[in-house]
Amino acid sequence: MPEFDLTIRNGSIVNAADTTRGDIGVRAGKIVAVADKLPAGTRDLDASGRYVLPGGIDSHCHVEQLSASGMMTADDFYSATVSAAFGGTTTIIPFAAQHRGMSLPKVVADYHACAGPKAVIDYGFHLIVSDPTEQALKHDLPDLIRKGYSSFKVYMTYDKLKIDDYAMLDVLDTAGREGALVMVHAENNDIIKWVAQRLLANGHGAPKFHAVAHDPLAESEATNRMISLSRLVDVPILIVHVSGIEAVKTIRAAQTLGARVFGETCPQYLFLTAADIDKPGLEGAKFCCSPPPRDAASQEAVWEGLANGTFQVYSSDHAPYRYDETGKLPKGDKTTFKDMANGVPGLELRLPLLFSEGVGKGRLTMNQFVALTSTNHARMYGFADRKGSVAVGQDADIAIWDAEKRTTIRAEDIHDNVGYTPYEGRTIQGWPTTVINRGRVVVADGKLHAERGSGQFIPRGMPGPLTTPRKPSEAMRLFQSFIQPKP
Ligand code: URP
Ligand code: ZN
Ligand code: ZN
Repeated sequence: MPEFDLTIRNGSIVNAADTTRGDIGVRAGKIVAVADKLPAGTRDLDASGRYVLPGGIDSHCHVEQLSASGMMTADDFYSATVSAAFGGTTTIIPFAAQHRGMSLPKVVADYHACAGPKAVIDYGFHLIVSDPTEQALKHDLPDLIRKGYSSFKVYMTYDKLKIDDYAMLDVLDTAGREGALVMVHAENNDIIKWVAQRLLANGHGAPKFHAVAHDPLAESEATNRMISLSRLVDVPILIVHVSGIEAVKTIRAAQTLGARVFGETCPQYLFLTAADIDKPGLEGAKFCCSPPPRDAASQEAVWEGLANGTFQVYSSDHAPYRYDETGKLPKGDKTTFKDMANGVPGLELRLPLLFSEGVGKGRLTMNQFVALTSTNHARMYGFADRKGSVAVGQDADIAIWDAEKRTTIRAEDIHDNVGYTPYEGRTIQGWPTTVINRGRVVVADGKLHAERGSGQFIPRGMPGPLTTPRKPSEAMRLFQSFIQPKP
């Protein structure tokens, strides 16, 4: 009887910190040996000439989620996780999204009921908090954080989701006390509404005006405001889907001051610009997400932010909506940019695009690629004890990459349920050919080998940024000294 269930031999093993050559032994879903030479396991994969990477972790995607305006994503937990797996991702963290009036524990139970029978790779959940009632902040949220839902997203925009600054301070305070990471959608709601109203009143409803309404100043103003709130109470935040040069610079400046402010960006801000939205008819709707893709200077700033550490994580923000009445065209040919569902697909292409254009073009090292696509997600969100590295004791979540494989992107080859891709026709180099989750070969030879429901829920511990002690601002300390009860 061989010592290992699975061996992956002769590959170039890349982690966030180093690159080594060697063999990996897997038993009962865990990596139990990494060494120069190991005997073949029951199943033996030859990775000669290939890169052996930790499976990707996509910590921002929307799956089987109802939007605030009542639109359901095109992907369920089966199609989303199959698509993710084909692109080299072995864990996703989508959202359990609360809408106003909903109880958080019920929301979480409902998402589990959807994911459990369908997911083919592992998954966790962030919460979306849109109704920070006393019940939510004092009871439900603390309880859920302790049960492994240790991060949640808040919105500064969308009328039905947004949280005002006063309530945001209460939310931050709860997160700081309970040890949760707050993910922020930072856009100024009133700027967007004010500009959009004037555009529509003047007959400018075409998709390209989405990018005009979501002016970069709406993003940078909200980013700066949220950073101020976070610094006041010294509770870490992660600004998600950062798109514009000013927002990038604002985050960088706060980090330089020592603030615990973190950043995420996504493929659409590296590989698309606002010019892509300017297509005949309503075609541009396929490129509309919030914040929208910007200009070449912003793209450059985002690339720089990935390389210099302003961004810790690179996620897809997969928000899949079909080009029909269920998503992008709810009012048919009368649809304006204000009516359509926001979001672009990206679960499957997130890693191949960055591998090709980031590593392949010399903008990122392989180690940076691994950190940005896997290791940092596990550290940031509190599950680095089991995922994000190829190392003894970790789950055997591995993607074997063929760095030479060239692929011309076609929507018909993508495994999601969206029906188009904003990256149609591009040729990229490098693809994950074998994808393994907890020792199970999920994808090999272009085929799916995993059963529906074989993915597991991953409860998470304290997010990395929360493990250093809280140091409220001077103003806050003074304020606290006044409100301390007298002995
Ligand atoms: O346009 C986007 N990003 N839609 C998804 C929802 C969100 O705000 O992330
Ligand atoms: Zn968002
Ligand atoms: Zn999102």
